Amino acid sequence: MPEPTPPGRDLLNVLDYETAAHKVLPPMARDYYASGAHDEVTLRANRAAFERVALRYHVLRGVEVRDTSVELLGRRHPVPLLIAPAAFGRLAHPDGELAVARAAAAAGITQTLSTLSTCSIEAVAEAGGGGPRWFQLYVFRDREVTRDLVQRAEAAGYEALVLTVDAPVLGYRDRDARNRFELPEGLAPESLSGALAKVQAEGAASGLFQYFAALIDPSLTWDDVDWLLSVTRLPVLLKGVVRGDDATLAVEHGAAGVIVSNHGGRQLDGAVASLDALSEVAAAVDGQAAVLVDGGVRRGTDILKALALGADAVLVGRPVLWGLAVAGEAGVRHVLELLSAEFDLAMALCGVQSVEEITRDLVAGRQ
Ligand code: FNR
Ligand code: LAC
Repeated sequence: MPEPTPPGRDLLNVLDYETAAHKVLPPMARDYYASGAHDEVTLRANRAAFERVALRYHVLRGVEVRDTSVELLGRRHPVPLLIAPAAFGRLAHPDGELAVARAAAAAGITQTLSTLSTCSIEAVAEAGGGGPRWFQLYVFRDREVTRDLVQRAEAAGYEALVLTVDAPVLGYRDRDARNRFELPEGLAPESLSGALAKVQAEGAASGLFQYFAALIDPSLTWDDVDWLLSVTRLPVLLKGVVRGDDATLAVEHGAAGVIVSNHGGRQLDGAVASLDALSEVAAAVDGQAAVLVDGGVRRGTDILKALALGADAVLVGRPVLWGLAVAGEAGVRHVLELLSAEFDLAMALCGVQSVEEITRDLVAGRQ
Protein backbone atom coordinates (compact mmCIF):
# COMPACT_ATOMS: atom_id res chain seq x y z
CA MET A 1 0.00 0.00 0.00
CA PRO A 2 1.47 3.42 -0.92
CA GLU A 3 2.62 5.83 1.75
CA PRO A 4 -0.22 8.31 2.37
CA THR A 5 0.41 11.85 1.17
CA PRO A 6 -0.52 14.27 3.94
CA PRO A 7 -2.07 17.68 3.25
CA GLY A 8 0.16 18.95 6.06
CA ARG A 9 3.41 17.59 7.50
CA ASP A 10 2.06 17.56 11.03
CA LEU A 11 -0.92 15.36 10.23
CA LEU A 12 0.56 11.94 10.79
CA ASN A 13 -2.42 10.15 12.24
CA VAL A 14 -6.11 10.43 12.99
CA LEU A 15 -5.54 11.98 16.40
CA ASP A 16 -3.54 14.79 14.75
CA TYR A 17 -6.65 15.43 12.67
CA GLU A 18 -8.72 15.65 15.85
CA THR A 19 -6.41 18.32 17.27
CA ALA A 20 -6.32 20.24 13.99
CA ALA A 21 -10.09 20.01 13.51
CA HIS A 22 -10.75 21.33 16.98
CA LYS A 23 -8.68 24.41 16.11
CA VAL A 24 -10.68 25.27 13.00
CA LEU A 25 -14.23 24.29 13.95
CA PRO A 26 -16.57 26.90 15.45
CA PRO A 27 -17.31 25.95 19.09
CA MET A 28 -20.91 24.86 18.51
CA ALA A 29 -19.94 22.48 15.69
CA ARG A 30 -16.85 21.26 17.55
CA ASP A 31 -18.90 20.42 20.63
CA TYR A 32 -21.66 18.75 18.58
CA TYR A 33 -19.14 16.46 16.87
CA ALA A 34 -17.04 15.76 19.95
CA SER A 35 -19.67 15.29 22.58
CA GLY A 36 -20.98 12.17 24.20
CA ALA A 37 -24.07 11.92 26.37
CA HIS A 38 -24.04 13.37 29.90
CA ASP A 39 -20.70 12.61 31.65
CA GLU A 40 -19.22 11.05 28.49
CA VAL A 41 -18.28 7.88 30.37
CA THR A 42 -19.16 5.67 27.40
CA LEU A 43 -17.38 7.99 24.98
CA ARG A 44 -14.15 7.44 26.94
CA ALA A 45 -14.88 3.74 27.48
CA ASN A 46 -14.98 3.13 23.73
CA ARG A 47 -11.34 4.23 23.42
CA ALA A 48 -10.22 2.60 26.65
CA ALA A 49 -11.58 -0.76 25.50
CA PHE A 50 -9.33 -0.70 22.43
CA GLU A 51 -6.33 0.36 24.47
CA ARG A 52 -6.83 -2.53 26.93
CA VAL A 53 -6.61 -5.20 24.23
CA ALA A 54 -3.10 -6.59 23.72
CA LEU A 55 -2.00 -8.36 20.57
CA ARG A 56 -0.26 -11.76 20.50
CA TYR A 57 1.47 -11.44 17.14
CA HIS A 58 3.03 -14.19 15.08
CA VAL A 59 6.60 -14.06 13.80
CA LEU A 60 8.35 -15.49 10.73
CA ARG A 61 5.22 -15.84 8.66
CA GLY A 62 6.40 -14.28 5.39
CA VAL A 63 4.28 -11.18 5.09
CA GLU A 64 5.71 -9.55 1.99
CA VAL A 65 2.42 -9.97 0.16
CA ARG A 66 -0.71 -8.94 2.04
CA ASP A 67 -4.36 -8.62 1.12
CA THR A 68 -6.39 -6.24 3.28
CA SER A 69 -9.65 -6.78 1.40
CA VAL A 70 -12.77 -8.38 2.80
CA GLU A 71 -16.08 -9.71 1.45
CA LEU A 72 -19.19 -8.12 2.95
CA LEU A 73 -22.81 -8.32 1.77
CA GLY A 74 -21.77 -9.59 -1.64
CA ARG A 75 -19.17 -6.91 -2.31
CA ARG A 76 -15.39 -6.88 -1.91
CA HIS A 77 -14.20 -3.98 0.22
CA PRO A 78 -10.54 -2.89 -0.10
CA VAL A 79 -10.21 -2.71 3.68
CA PRO A 80 -12.63 -3.79 6.45
CA LEU A 81 -13.46 -0.13 7.02
CA LEU A 82 -16.62 1.86 6.27
CA ILE A 83 -17.76 5.39 6.98
CA ALA A 84 -20.36 5.64 9.75
CA PRO A 85 -23.38 7.87 9.26
CA ALA A 86 -22.95 11.32 10.76
CA ALA A 87 -25.45 14.13 10.65
CA PHE A 88 -24.69 17.67 9.45
CA GLY A 89 -21.45 17.30 7.48
CA ARG A 90 -21.59 20.88 6.26
CA LEU A 91 -20.92 22.10 9.79
CA ALA A 92 -17.38 20.90 9.09
CA HIS A 93 -16.90 22.09 5.51
CA PRO A 94 -19.04 23.77 2.83
CA ASP A 95 -18.84 20.64 0.63
CA GLY A 96 -20.04 18.45 3.52
CA GLU A 97 -21.18 14.95 2.57
CA LEU A 98 -20.35 15.59 -1.11
CA ALA A 99 -16.66 15.80 -0.20
CA VAL A 100 -16.98 12.63 1.87
CA ALA A 101 -18.63 10.91 -1.10
CA ARG A 102 -15.80 11.87 -3.45
CA ALA A 103 -13.09 10.78 -1.02
CA ALA A 104 -14.88 7.51 -0.25
CA ALA A 105 -15.41 6.72 -3.93
CA ALA A 106 -11.73 7.40 -4.70
CA ALA A 107 -10.77 4.85 -2.03
CA GLY A 108 -13.57 2.38 -2.87
CA ILE A 109 -14.69 2.70 0.75
CA THR A 110 -18.40 2.61 1.57
CA GLN A 111 -20.02 5.81 2.80
CA THR A 112 -23.09 5.49 5.00
CA LEU A 113 -25.18 8.62 4.50
CA SER A 114 -27.20 9.88 7.48
CA THR A 115 -30.91 10.69 7.21
CA LEU A 116 -29.85 14.06 8.64
CA SER A 117 -27.21 14.86 6.03
CA THR A 118 -26.77 18.43 4.85
CA CYS A 119 -26.49 17.29 1.20
CA SER A 120 -29.34 15.32 -0.32
CA ILE A 121 -29.55 11.58 -1.02
CA GLU A 122 -29.42 12.26 -4.76
CA ALA A 123 -26.63 14.86 -4.69
CA VAL A 124 -24.40 12.55 -2.65
CA ALA A 125 -25.06 9.65 -5.02
CA GLU A 126 -24.05 11.83 -7.94
CA ALA A 127 -20.90 13.10 -6.22
CA GLY A 128 -19.91 9.58 -5.23
CA GLY A 129 -20.38 8.24 -8.78
CA GLY A 130 -19.83 4.51 -8.88
CA GLY A 131 -18.59 4.33 -5.28
CA PRO A 132 -20.40 2.04 -2.86
CA ARG A 133 -22.81 3.65 -0.41
CA TRP A 134 -25.34 2.74 2.24
CA PHE A 135 -28.19 4.84 3.66
CA GLN A 136 -28.92 5.26 7.39
CA LEU A 137 -32.54 5.56 8.42
CA TYR A 138 -34.24 7.39 11.21
CA VAL A 139 -37.91 6.49 11.34
CA PHE A 140 -40.19 9.51 11.51
CA ARG A 141 -43.55 9.50 13.27
CA ASP A 142 -44.97 10.02 9.79
CA ARG A 143 -44.19 6.63 8.26
CA GLU A 144 -44.71 7.93 4.71
CA VAL A 145 -41.65 10.15 5.14
CA THR A 146 -39.55 7.10 5.93
CA ARG A 147 -41.01 5.09 3.06
CA ASP A 148 -40.17 7.95 0.71
CA LEU A 149 -36.54 8.08 1.97
CA VAL A 150 -36.23 4.33 1.40
CA GLN A 151 -37.50 4.60 -2.15
CA ARG A 152 -35.19 7.51 -2.93
CA ALA A 153 -32.18 5.65 -1.52
CA GLU A 154 -33.05 2.61 -3.64
CA ALA A 155 -33.52 4.72 -6.76
CA ALA A 156 -30.19 6.50 -6.19
CA GLY A 157 -28.23 3.24 -5.97
CA TYR A 158 -27.60 2.90 -2.24
CA GLU A 159 -26.79 -0.76 -1.59
CA ALA A 160 -28.03 -1.29 1.98
CA LEU A 161 -30.14 0.37 4.66
CA VAL A 162 -28.83 0.93 8.16
CA LEU A 163 -31.66 1.24 10.66
CA THR A 164 -30.45 3.01 13.77
CA VAL A 165 -32.06 1.31 16.76
CA ASP A 166 -30.27 2.95 19.68
CA ALA A 167 -31.98 6.34 19.32
CA PRO A 168 -35.72 6.08 20.03
CA VAL A 169 -35.11 9.43 21.66
CA LEU A 170 -31.93 11.44 21.37
CA GLY A 171 -29.31 11.08 24.06
CA TYR A 172 -28.78 14.18 26.14
CA ARG A 173 -25.52 15.91 25.30
CA ASP A 174 -24.90 18.53 27.93
CA ARG A 175 -22.53 20.49 25.69
CA ASP A 176 -25.24 20.87 23.03
CA ALA A 177 -27.78 21.94 25.63
CA ARG A 178 -25.38 24.57 26.94
CA ASN A 179 -24.71 25.85 23.41
CA ARG A 180 -28.42 25.65 22.50
CA PHE A 181 -27.25 23.73 19.46
CA GLU A 182 -28.99 24.50 16.17
CA LEU A 183 -28.07 24.62 12.51
CA PRO A 184 -26.77 27.95 11.27
CA GLU A 185 -28.67 29.89 8.60
CA GLY A 186 -28.38 28.15 5.23
CA LEU A 187 -27.80 24.62 6.57
CA ALA A 188 -30.58 22.03 6.71
CA PRO A 189 -31.17 18.28 6.48
CA GLU A 190 -31.37 18.45 2.67
CA SER A 191 -33.08 15.12 2.08
CA LEU A 192 -36.11 16.39 4.00
CA SER A 193 -38.49 19.29 3.54
CA GLY A 194 -40.81 21.61 5.44
CA ALA A 195 -40.80 21.26 9.23
CA LEU A 196 -38.60 18.16 8.88
CA ALA A 197 -35.81 20.31 7.45
CA LYS A 198 -35.57 22.72 10.37
CA VAL A 199 -33.24 22.12 13.31
CA GLN A 200 -33.72 25.16 15.51
CA ALA A 201 -33.39 25.67 19.22
CA GLU A 202 -36.40 27.07 20.99
CA GLY A 203 -35.78 27.77 24.64
CA ALA A 204 -33.12 26.19 26.76
CA ALA A 205 -32.12 22.94 25.11
CA SER A 206 -30.39 21.49 22.06
CA GLY A 207 -32.41 22.09 18.91
CA LEU A 208 -31.57 18.55 17.78
CA PHE A 209 -32.93 17.10 21.01
CA GLN A 210 -36.16 19.01 20.39
CA TYR A 211 -36.22 17.88 16.75
CA PHE A 212 -36.04 14.23 17.77
CA ALA A 213 -38.69 14.62 20.44
CA ALA A 214 -41.10 16.18 17.95
CA LEU A 215 -40.48 14.14 14.82
CA ILE A 216 -38.68 10.83 15.37
CA ASP A 217 -40.81 7.82 16.37
CA PRO A 218 -39.96 6.50 19.86
CA SER A 219 -42.51 3.67 19.55
CA LEU A 220 -40.35 1.50 17.24
CA THR A 221 -40.41 -2.25 17.91
CA TRP A 222 -39.36 -5.41 16.11
CA ASP A 223 -42.65 -5.13 14.15
CA ASP A 224 -41.22 -2.02 12.51
CA VAL A 225 -38.13 -3.97 11.47
CA ASP A 226 -40.52 -6.39 9.74
CA TRP A 227 -42.32 -3.44 8.18
CA LEU A 228 -39.06 -1.98 6.86
CA LEU A 229 -38.00 -5.32 5.41
CA SER A 230 -41.40 -5.57 3.68
CA VAL A 231 -41.03 -2.19 1.94
CA THR A 232 -37.47 -2.58 0.64
CA ARG A 233 -35.51 -4.96 -1.52
CA LEU A 234 -32.24 -3.77 0.06
CA PRO A 235 -30.42 -5.61 2.84
CA VAL A 236 -31.11 -4.03 6.25
CA LEU A 237 -28.53 -3.74 9.04
CA LEU A 238 -29.49 -2.79 12.60
CA LYS A 239 -27.13 -0.24 14.14
CA GLY A 240 -26.80 0.07 17.89
CA VAL A 241 -27.08 -3.55 19.05
CA VAL A 242 -24.92 -4.43 22.09
CA ARG A 243 -26.48 -7.69 23.35
CA GLY A 244 -26.43 -11.25 22.11
CA ASP A 245 -30.18 -11.76 22.61
CA ASP A 246 -31.02 -8.67 20.55
CA ALA A 247 -28.58 -9.82 17.86
CA THR A 248 -30.34 -13.20 17.74
CA LEU A 249 -33.67 -11.42 17.27
CA ALA A 250 -32.13 -9.28 14.52
CA VAL A 251 -31.10 -12.42 12.64
CA GLU A 252 -34.49 -14.06 13.23
CA HIS A 253 -36.25 -11.01 11.82
CA GLY A 254 -34.11 -11.13 8.69
CA ALA A 255 -31.48 -8.45 9.22
CA ALA A 256 -28.50 -8.81 6.92
CA GLY A 257 -26.21 -7.51 9.61
CA VAL A 258 -25.83 -5.84 12.97
CA ILE A 259 -23.62 -2.93 13.87
CA VAL A 260 -22.34 -3.17 17.42
CA SER A 261 -22.43 0.44 18.48
CA ASN A 262 -23.39 2.81 21.24
CA HIS A 263 -23.58 5.71 18.78
CA GLY A 264 -20.11 6.93 19.64
CA GLY A 265 -21.10 7.33 23.30
CA ARG A 266 -23.80 9.84 22.37
CA GLN A 267 -26.90 7.97 23.48
CA LEU A 268 -26.99 6.05 26.78
CA ASP A 269 -24.15 7.20 28.99
CA GLY A 270 -22.87 4.26 30.99
CA ALA A 271 -23.54 1.89 28.09
CA VAL A 272 -21.03 -0.90 27.52
CA ALA A 273 -18.07 0.01 25.28
CA SER A 274 -18.75 -1.31 21.80
CA LEU A 275 -15.59 -3.41 21.64
CA ASP A 276 -16.57 -5.04 24.95
CA ALA A 277 -19.99 -5.95 23.52
CA LEU A 278 -18.60 -7.38 20.30
CA SER A 279 -17.73 -10.97 21.26
CA GLU A 280 -21.17 -11.69 22.72
CA VAL A 281 -22.90 -10.33 19.62
CA ALA A 282 -20.58 -12.17 17.23
CA ALA A 283 -21.20 -15.44 19.08
CA ALA A 284 -24.97 -14.97 18.91
CA VAL A 285 -24.93 -14.10 15.20
CA ASP A 286 -22.67 -17.09 14.56
CA GLY A 287 -21.98 -16.26 10.92
CA GLN A 288 -25.64 -15.90 9.94
CA ALA A 289 -25.33 -12.17 9.27
CA ALA A 290 -22.62 -9.56 9.02
CA VAL A 291 -21.20 -8.12 12.26
CA LEU A 292 -19.73 -4.64 12.23
CA VAL A 293 -18.59 -2.46 15.09
CA ASP A 294 -17.99 1.25 15.61
CA GLY A 295 -16.98 3.59 18.42
CA GLY A 296 -13.43 4.69 19.13
CA VAL A 297 -11.64 3.22 16.10
CA ARG A 298 -8.65 5.53 15.64
CA ARG A 299 -5.78 3.27 14.55
CA GLY A 300 -5.18 0.41 12.14
CA THR A 301 -4.49 -1.83 15.12
CA ASP A 302 -8.02 -1.04 16.37
CA ILE A 303 -9.42 -2.45 13.14
CA LEU A 304 -7.33 -5.58 13.60
CA LYS A 305 -8.42 -5.97 17.23
CA ALA A 306 -12.08 -5.65 16.26
CA LEU A 307 -11.70 -8.29 13.57
CA ALA A 308 -9.90 -10.62 15.99
CA LEU A 309 -12.84 -10.26 18.38
CA GLY A 310 -15.41 -11.23 15.78
CA ALA A 311 -16.19 -8.23 13.56
CA ASP A 312 -16.30 -8.48 9.78
CA ALA A 313 -15.54 -4.77 9.47
CA VAL A 314 -15.51 -1.51 11.43
CA LEU A 315 -16.90 1.97 10.84
CA VAL A 316 -15.46 5.34 11.76
CA GLY A 317 -17.52 8.41 12.57
CA ARG A 318 -15.62 11.35 14.00
CA PRO A 319 -12.30 10.71 12.18
CA VAL A 320 -14.03 11.43 8.87
CA LEU A 321 -15.55 14.64 10.24
CA TRP A 322 -12.11 15.73 11.43
CA GLY A 323 -10.61 15.11 7.99
CA LEU A 324 -13.48 17.03 6.44
CA ALA A 325 -13.04 19.98 8.79
CA VAL A 326 -9.29 20.21 8.23
CA ALA A 327 -9.04 19.80 4.46
CA GLY A 328 -12.38 18.86 2.88
CA GLU A 329 -12.20 16.00 0.40
CA ALA A 330 -8.38 15.75 0.65
CA GLY A 331 -8.62 15.54 4.43
CA VAL A 332 -11.15 12.71 4.32
CA ARG A 333 -9.08 10.92 1.69
CA HIS A 334 -6.00 11.21 3.88
CA VAL A 335 -7.79 9.94 6.98
CA LEU A 336 -9.00 6.90 5.03
CA GLU A 337 -5.50 6.34 3.63
CA LEU A 338 -3.92 6.59 7.08
CA LEU A 339 -6.29 4.03 8.58
CA SER A 340 -5.88 1.72 5.59
CA ALA A 341 -2.09 1.93 5.68
CA GLU A 342 -2.00 1.43 9.44
CA PHE A 343 -4.24 -1.63 9.11
CA ASP A 344 -1.92 -3.08 6.46
CA LEU A 345 1.05 -2.43 8.76
CA ALA A 346 -0.77 -4.04 11.69
CA MET A 347 -1.41 -7.15 9.59
CA ALA A 348 2.26 -7.39 8.65
CA LEU A 349 3.44 -7.02 12.24
CA CYS A 350 0.90 -9.58 13.43
CA GLY A 351 2.16 -12.05 10.86
CA VAL A 352 -1.02 -12.33 8.82
CA GLN A 353 -1.30 -12.13 5.04
CA SER A 354 -5.06 -11.96 4.70
CA VAL A 355 -8.04 -10.82 6.73
CA GLU A 356 -9.25 -14.42 7.09
CA GLU A 357 -6.13 -15.12 9.18
CA ILE A 358 -7.13 -12.55 11.81
CA THR A 359 -8.40 -14.86 14.51
CA ARG A 360 -9.22 -14.56 18.17
CA ASP A 361 -5.91 -16.04 19.35
CA LEU A 362 -4.20 -12.82 18.21
CA VAL A 363 -5.73 -11.15 21.27
CA ALA A 364 -4.18 -11.82 24.68
CA GLY A 365 -6.34 -13.61 27.20
CA ARG A 366 -8.99 -14.58 24.65
CA GLN A 367 -7.53 -17.53 22.75
C1 FNR B 1 -23.15 10.34 14.77
N1 FNR B 1 -23.72 9.08 14.69
C2 FNR B 1 -24.89 8.91 13.96
N2 FNR B 1 -25.44 7.68 13.84
C3 FNR B 1 -26.56 7.50 13.11
O1 FNR B 1 -27.03 6.39 13.01
N3 FNR B 1 -27.14 8.56 12.47
C4 FNR B 1 -26.65 9.82 12.54
O2 FNR B 1 -27.18 10.74 11.95
C5 FNR B 1 -25.49 10.02 13.34
N4 FNR B 1 -24.98 11.26 13.50
C6 FNR B 1 -23.81 11.44 14.17
C7 FNR B 1 -23.24 12.71 14.23
C8 FNR B 1 -22.01 12.88 14.86
C9 FNR B 1 -21.43 14.24 14.92
C10 FNR B 1 -21.35 11.78 15.43
C11 FNR B 1 -20.02 11.93 16.11
C12 FNR B 1 -21.93 10.53 15.39
C13 FNR B 1 -23.04 7.91 15.26
C14 FNR B 1 -22.03 7.33 14.26
O3 FNR B 1 -22.70 6.72 13.19
C15 FNR B 1 -21.14 6.27 14.91
O4 FNR B 1 -21.91 5.31 15.57
C16 FNR B 1 -20.11 6.86 15.87
O5 FNR B 1 -19.68 8.13 15.46
C17 FNR B 1 -18.91 5.92 15.98
O6 FNR B 1 -18.02 6.37 16.90
P1 FNR B 1 -16.69 7.23 16.55
O7 FNR B 1 -16.00 6.57 15.37
O8 FNR B 1 -17.14 8.62 16.24
O9 FNR B 1 -15.92 7.12 17.81
C1 LAC C 1 -26.38 12.36 16.59
C2 LAC C 1 -27.58 11.92 15.82
C3 LAC C 1 -28.14 12.81 14.84
O1 LAC C 1 -25.71 11.49 17.14
O2 LAC C 1 -27.49 10.62 15.39
O3 LAC C 1 -26.17 13.57 16.73
